[in-house]
Order: sequence, then C-alpha cells, then structure tokens
Amino acid sequence: MGKTRKKVLITGCSSGFGLLTAVAAAKAGFDVVATMRNLNKDANLKSALEKAHVHAEIAELDVTKPETINAVVQRFGPFDILVNNAGILMGGSFLDITDAEMRSVFETDYFGAVNLTRAVVPDMIKNKSGLIINIASLAGRVGHLFNAAYGAAKHALIGFSRSTRLELKKFRIRVVSVEPGYFKTGVIGNNAYLTEKFYDSNSPMFELNRGFLKMMMKDIIPKAGDPKIVAKKIVKIMKTPKPKNHYIIGKDAWLVVIFQWLGLLKLIEQDVYIKLIRHARRKMKQKKKINR
Ligand SMILES: NC(=O)c1ccc[n+]([C@@H]2O[C@H](COP(=O)([O-])OP(=O)(O)OC[C@H]3O[C@@H](n4cnc5c(N)ncnc54)[C@H](OP(=O)(O)O)[C@@H]3O)[C@@H](O)[C@H]2O)c1
Repeated sequence: MGKTRKKVLITGCSSGFGLLTAVAAAKAGFDVVATMRNLNKDANLKSALEKAHVHAEIAELDVTKPETINAVVQRFGPFDILVNNAGILMGGSFLDITDAEMRSVFETDYFGAVNLTRAVVPDMIKNKSGLIINIASLAGRVGHLFNAAYGAAKHALIGFSRSTRLELKKFRIRVVSVEPGYFKTGVIGNNAYLTEKFYDSNSPMFELNRGFLKMMMKDIIPKAGDPKIVAKKIVKIMKTPKPKNHYIIGKDAWLVVIFQWLGLLKLIEQDVYIKLIRHARRKMKQKKKINR
C-alpha cells in the first residue's frame, strides 16, 4: 500500500506557533512529530491535542544539541516536511550584548535551523521530494533596533533559505521562508530574554534601551496578531503543491514591506524613532524628578 500521510517534524512546540502548528497539522491529517527542548513543558501541547481529538508524537529535541536531533531523525525519520520554528529573542543594544548572548541567539535561530536541515535533507534527496519551512521574521527583512542579534540571525536565516532553495531545486525539495510581523506569543512575552547589561545605567544606550521596551509594551505588543493565523498559514503551505518562496504574514509586516518596496522605509523608521525618543525622554524626566 502506498504512503498516504506526510510526516512532519516541527521544532519548538512547547508554545506559540510551534504548538499551534502541531495541532493544526495533525487536524489536517499530517503525521506530526512535535518536538521541544524540555519535555517537562509538554502539558499545554498534550491538552491542546486532546481537545482537538488528534494525535502527535512528542519528542525531545534541542536545536543546538546534535545528539537530540540525530535521535529524533533515527527514531521517526524519514520526514517529508521540516518546520524550523524554534527561536529566541534577546532585547538590548548591540553595544551591551555579550558575545555569549549574541552567539546563543545565532545558535538557536540560525544554526539550529541549519542543523535540522542538514539532518533531514539526505532522506529527502533519496525520496526526491521534500518541503522545508523556515520561520524567519519581518526582522529578517528590515532593521530591528535594540534587537540586533535577533534581526541579524533572521536575516541570516532568510539568506540560508534563498541559497538552499537553489541547491535543492534539482531534488524537488522546496524551501520556504515565513516572515511574520508581531504576533502574541512567548517570543515577545514571557520567553523574551533581555541582555545581562540591559539595566546597566553606565551604558550610553540605557535610556534608549528602556524607551524601546516601553514602546514595545505600549505601542506594539497590545496590537500584535493572533498566532493561530500563522499556524493556519503554515499548514496551508504544507498542503500547497507549489508554495511561494516567501510568505509575509500580518498587516504590520505587509505595511513595512510595501514601504520598503516603494523606497519609503525611511518614513516608518522615522516614525519608530520619534516614538522611541518620546518614551526615552519620559523615562529621563521621571529619573530627574526622583533625583531632585
Ligand atoms: N511571535 C512573533 O511575533 C514572531 C514574529 C516573527 C517570527 N517569530 C518566530 O516564530 C518562531 C516561534 O516563536 P513563537 O513566536 O511561537 O514564540 P514562543 O512561544 O516563545 O516559541 C518559541 C519556541 O522555541 C523553543 N526553543 C527555544 N530555544 C530552543 C532550542 N534551543 N531548541 C528547541 N526549541 C527551542 C521554545 O522552547 P522553550 O519553551 O523551551 O523556551 C518555544 O517552544 C521563532 O522562530 C520566532 O522567532 C515570532
């Protein structure tokens, strides 16, 4: 009997897009292997699967640990589809971030996806078929102030997608880059890291750093979108025989990209900068009052 269900490997399924995509893909009839780096965090995924009356294999996989990647590929492979979703964000100025912090973002957001791709592609080449979906970000298309490590790693991931797409075309393996704007998940909430020196008042970036945090809290996070939209789109891509190379998701992302295409990105950058300075000035005034 021929194989009917496509097997999907998804990273970072303890929360956010990963969790929602695992459930939506299982509902859509895919054979899902939902992975996470810490199996103690599997409760939310398990209850979401139960609620949807669907099944997915749950396995431990840390994208920075090759032994966990190999174990999953050996146990559950070969895979038809890989979703490189795991990611972390580290808020703070490029000036203050330590080398170790900068590298930890790259290890997860860029090298993690590279590690996974290299682990699953040999089987896809044998099968002459496959789909790799890299969850990049709008931050991989435009500058992301006080988030340079994240922005740079996502730019690198989009570059990796573009290059691997060309290399793998011959084997009928497609590579897709998904580039969402802001959506309400852990990466911009409870899971967001701040650089160790974020609150170091000796940094020339101190007030701007904090102004940016304030701007995120007041102007950006409350307007962030519903992450189910992204999960739905990812599953749609899985089902599409000829997917596009890039998917921009969210009104905020589209607005920025259209301004970029029109050569008017400066206007948006200026708007963000004015808001940032306004928040930073308020902080400085508050500080002066306290010091009086
Ligand atoms: N939400 C947005 O606005 C947005 C926009 C654009 C792109 N993205 C991207 O979307 C992807 C998913 O993030 P999310 O928004 O769904 O946020 P999230 O809820 O924080 O999910 C991130 C997931 O990545 C996992 N992870 C972190 N480091 C890992 C590692 N070394 N190995 C395996 N898993 C690891 C986390 O696991 P733990 O629970 O163990 O930390 C978590 O399951 C990320 O690549 C993010 O950059 C998000």
